Amino acid sequence: SFDLVCAQRGLTLSVAAGTSVLHALRGAGIDLPSSCEQGVCGTCECRVLEGEIDHRDSILSAAERAEGAVMMACVSRARGKRLVLDL
Ligand code: FES
Repeated sequence: SFDLVCAQRGLTLSVAAGTSVLHALRGAGIDLPSSCEQGVCGTCECRVLEGEIDHRDSILSAAERAEGAVMMACVSRARGKRLVLDL
């Protein structure tokens, strides 16, 4: 599991191994739009302020992955112990 911080709300959630960031957010009442939930459409894109992302989508370019400023919340996760989102 890892900590997911919603910076705008001052909220920290724990994301368990079998749970997506998208569903962890929804569980906390944050309704991020989604469509494919397979990392292919881009609907669930989130801005990331801090933390290393384990990108598991099929949309972002290599440059975007390296930059680490956005992630697809339906499939991607934290590489470390903490991710801070602009939510
Ligand atoms: Fe389609 Fe996340 S819902 S990429």
